[in-house]
Amino acid sequence: MKKIRIQDMSNHVGETVKLGVWLANKRSSGKIAFLQLRDGSGFVQGVVVKAEVPEEVFVTAKGLHQESSLYVIGEVTKDERSSFGYELQVKEIEVISEANNYPITPKEHGIEFLMDNRHLWLRSRKQHAIMKVRNEIIRATYEFFNENGFTKVDPPILTGSAPEGTSELFHTKYFDQDAYLSQSGQLYMEAAAMALGKVFSFGPTFRAEKSKTRRHLIEFWMIEPEMAFVEHDESLEVQEQYVSYIVQSVLKNCKIELERLGRDTSKLEHIQAPFPRISYDDAIKLLHEKGFDDIEWGEDFGAPHETAIAEHYDKPVFITCYPVGIKPFYMQPHPERDDVVLCADLIAPEGYGEIIGGSERVHDYELMKQRLKEHDLDESAYAWYLDLRQQGSVPHSGFGLGLERTVAWITGAEHVRESIPFPRLLNRLYP
Ligand code: 4AD
Ligand code: MG
Repeated sequence: MKKIRIQDMSNHVGETVKLGVWLANKRSSGKIAFLQLRDGSGFVQGVVVKAEVPEEVFVTAKGLHQESSLYVIGEVTKDERSSFGYELQVKEIEVISEANNYPITPKEHGIEFLMDNRHLWLRSRKQHAIMKVRNEIIRATYEFFNENGFTKVDPPILTGSAPEGTSELFHTKYFDQDAYLSQSGQLYMEAAAMALGKVFSFGPTFRAEKSKTRRHLIEFWMIEPEMAFVEHDESLEVQEQYVSYIVQSVLKNCKIELERLGRDTSKLEHIQAPFPRISYDDAIKLLHEKGFDDIEWGEDFGAPHETAIAEHYDKPVFITCYPVGIKPFYMQPHPERDDVVLCADLIAPEGYGEIIGGSERVHDYELMKQRLKEHDLDESAYAWYLDLRQQGSVPHSGFGLGLERTVAWITGAEHVRESIPFPRLLNRLYP
């Protein structure tokens, strides 16, 4: 008997096949049982007709508990009514392992309960769909950068430096030295860009941020491209093309998942480069016009400000050239102004906030030395980084895209905790 997966059922219409599955849900009457089956590759309905199977098969089907694991044998048929398009006419059932009072039932559960059961919650339809979209974004990311001449480079996770400021570092011991978990691979990616020209990384990053919002994780995954000989405006073009590419890839390859999530795809279809740009100066003016009196030039935006600016557009928007005082030490000054830097944050629509932070980098040795001093950073820890500015330094730019915020936006998940398999949150390290 051929053992197949649900995702391959379309190639076996009319054949009798074997599937390893879990019972997601069940409905039955005296004559027929409908088994909602899942195997990780998809969901399919299994139909058990009392009159067409031996007595004990029907009895077994009726007595199955949610999330028990089974082998089922049956014939694959077409089913025009379901979005999946196929059904299994079940003939035999072999119970592998009975589930024991599975805690997550089709009724509504509170979020803390679901988070405590995250190891099981991942099995549910919506969570499954989000993980599939996450995977598609990762796949499309590799495809996009590989097709555009980038090389994947893996920066270290244990580091001695703090690219994004010292207040949010996870401290650890590295034998008898102090070390930190990486906040960003950027500084290492700059070195790699000088070796390979165009590079990108994809890995976990850590922020000991005491933030408890729907946009903040303690551990999140970041994609960090870095490009030699690429200036600020050119980097924005790469960013808008990249974000358009992943959105369009998800629309194309995750139709079933977006439908299962109830995502309004009309809001995603027109996400195509170019994206609008607004300077920080004009964004402040726009906020004042909209009645936000709580923010002055020189201050950083909060979530309500970002949302108000984003509402103005139906695509992601770049807010460019922030004040030097609220951005990290490595950003290149504006050529005509000393109060702002060549950077941009990309703000997603629909209130999802900043999904990309990026900039051109200081490539002048003296200026970098001065910046390290101004930011009270220990020059010896950054000696190699400074050295890059003495060994054939070139203009270069890069950016970091937060994967979970991007997944949340594209799937319409209301909180980033659902866009990563096992979220690390301010008050949660379990499971
Ligand atoms: O803006 P950030 O801090 O930029 C950097 O780390 C740069 N070194 C990147 C670079 O230029 N190579 O972070 C980049 C992105 C943010 O736009 C956001 O999407 C995400 O990372 N991010 C978070 N996502 C979830 N939880 C958090 N606590 C996050 N902090 C940042
Ligand atoms: Mg940022």
